[in-house]
Parts: sequence; C-alpha cells; structure tokens
Amino acid sequence: MSTGKVAEKQLKTIIIKEEPPIAWIILNRPEKLNAVNMELLDELSKALDEVEVKDNIKVLVITGKGKAFSAGADISGFKGMKPLDALKFSRKFQEVNNKIEYYTKPVIMALNGYTLGGGMEIAMSGDFRIAAESAKLGQPEINLGIMPGAGGTQRMARLIGMSRAKKLIYTGDMISAKEAYEIGLVDMVVPDDKLEEEVRKFAYKLAEKPPIALLTAKYAIQYGLQTDIWNGLSIEAALFSLLFSTEDYVEGVNAFLEKRKPKFKGK
Ligand code: COA
Repeated sequence: MSTGKVAEKQLKTIIIKEEPPIAWIILNRPEKLNAVNMELLDELSKALDEVEVKDNIKVLVITGKGKAFSAGADISGFKGMKPLDALKFSRKFQEVNNKIEYYTKPVIMALNGYTLGGGMEIAMSGDFRIAAESAKLGQPEINLGIMPGAGGTQRMARLIGMSRAKKLIYTGDMISAKEAYEIGLVDMVVPDDKLEEEVRKFAYKLAEKPPIALLTAKYAIQYGLQTDIWNGLSIEAALFSLLFSTEDYVEGVNAFLEKRKPKFKGK
C-alpha cells in the first residue's frame, strides 16, 4: 500500500518521517530519554499541525528514539520553577495532548521503552498504545513531590478506572508492558524487535478504512463519553447520518453488493 516515497525531516527534538499513508513523529532526545521540554512541545505541536493537513497521510504514529518513548517532563527545567511557570508548562503540555486526543487521523503510540510521567500522558492521548515487551510504564511524579500535570490524572482514571489510576499515581511504581496490557493501559504487547512491523501492520489496516467514518466514530466515542448517554446517542445519530453524504459510503455499499473490496477516498 505504501507509495514508496519517504520524506524525513529532522528538527532539534523530533523527527518527522512521512511514509504515506503513514507518518511517524519520533521523539528525538535519546541522550535524555526523550524528556519533554518546551522546545519539544513546540516542535511536536507544529509537527502535528503540519501532518494533519496532508491528505495522503491517513494514520499518525508517535514513537521514541533509543531506549525510551519518553521518560517524562524534563526534570532539569523543574529546579527553581515558580508556580506560575509550572501552570504555563502544564497548560502548554495539556494543549499538545488535547491536540493529539482530538486529532483528525487515528494516532497510534508505539511504546518502544520507558513511558513515564509526561511520556505516559502523551501515550494516553493517542487512540491506541502498542508496547514493546521491555517497555516500562508509569507516573513517577509523586517521587519528585509533584503529580501528573499533562492530563494524567484525568486520562488515566478514564482509561483504566479510578483505583487502578490512583495506585499508579500514588505509588509512582513502574509496571511492565504485560501488566499494562492486563489493566488496559496498552492495547497490544509485541516482541521488541517486532514493534515497528506490528505497528505498521496495524496502521496499514486503519489506513484502508474510510477516513471520515473513522473520524466520526472517534468523535462519537470521545465526545459521547464526556456527556450522558442521551446526548451521546444524539451525537452518534448526527454523525451517523452525516456519513450518508459521503462518496465513501456509496463505495462501501456498492463494493459489498458487487462482492469486491472497497476503495475509500476520504470524500
Ligand atoms: N528529565 C530530564 N532528564 C532525564 C529524565 C527526565 N525526566 N529522565 C532521564 N533523564 C536523563 C538522565 O538525567 C540522564 O542524563 P545524564 O546522562 O546527563 O545524567 C539520561 O537521561 C539517562 O537517564 P538515566 O537515569 O541515566 O537512565 P537509567 O537507565 O539509569 O534510568 C529511568 C532510567 C527512566 C529509570 C530514570 O532516568 C528516571 O527515573 N527518569 C525520571 C523519570 C521521571 O521521574 N519522570 C517524571 C518526570 S515529571
């Protein structure tokens, strides 16, 4: 399915690799275990915007270079930090994670190693988490006298339930990829040397689906979960009916009736 054309752009803290129909954003401060500073947040935010408008990119993957996905916020920036600066950092980090959560393309997080603190918070903002067997996950902020500030308290509790989230956030313990899978924090665990292959396989599967229907399904689930079931069902019905104005729906139904594989265009 790949067009074979790969374009790679290296910024200071991330790499953007476009390999249509997939794009990869690779967190790239391996010597600091991809710790997240303001520069990385800025670059990540801009990269997300840049990739979002490309019609030939159907699925985004975010991963890390080296032995970490990300070991969290850059702790060196915390020394002497005043509450107002902490608030600005938290809000900026939350904004980037919100952008990921409501991204108009599916986002797969490929957890190649340590996924801690802010790294865990980025990971939880994606649609799916596929972890390498050796990855270690957690919210260790408590051990620094602080707490998660980039969506962790909210997204983790919603993803795995309140007491499981409290256990991880109160203890700061790191858990294995297998344990994370057992509590629903990751969706798939694969051998380390198969991570890229498995992520690509899953990304291609999603890339073949009708993009508008994927987006409306995503929004129905996400916006629906923020409200009561009656409003959620209204959102679902409105988005469901909208799909009957797309070319992809005509193609999907015709392909079924003609007993062939559909070819969706995102129109
Ligand atoms: N912020 C800034 N620097 C970090 C970092 C972070 N969150 N996590 C790792 N680093 C740096 C280390 O300081 C070290 O830098 P140095 O070589 O200049 O000393 C480098 O990355 C490698 O990390 P190191 O601790 O030597 O690797 P390790 O394999 O021994 O341990 C961890 C790995 C993940 C257990 C350990 O790095 C760690 O506990 N990191 C902090 C995790 C955390 O508390 N995150 C939440 C932040 S709010």
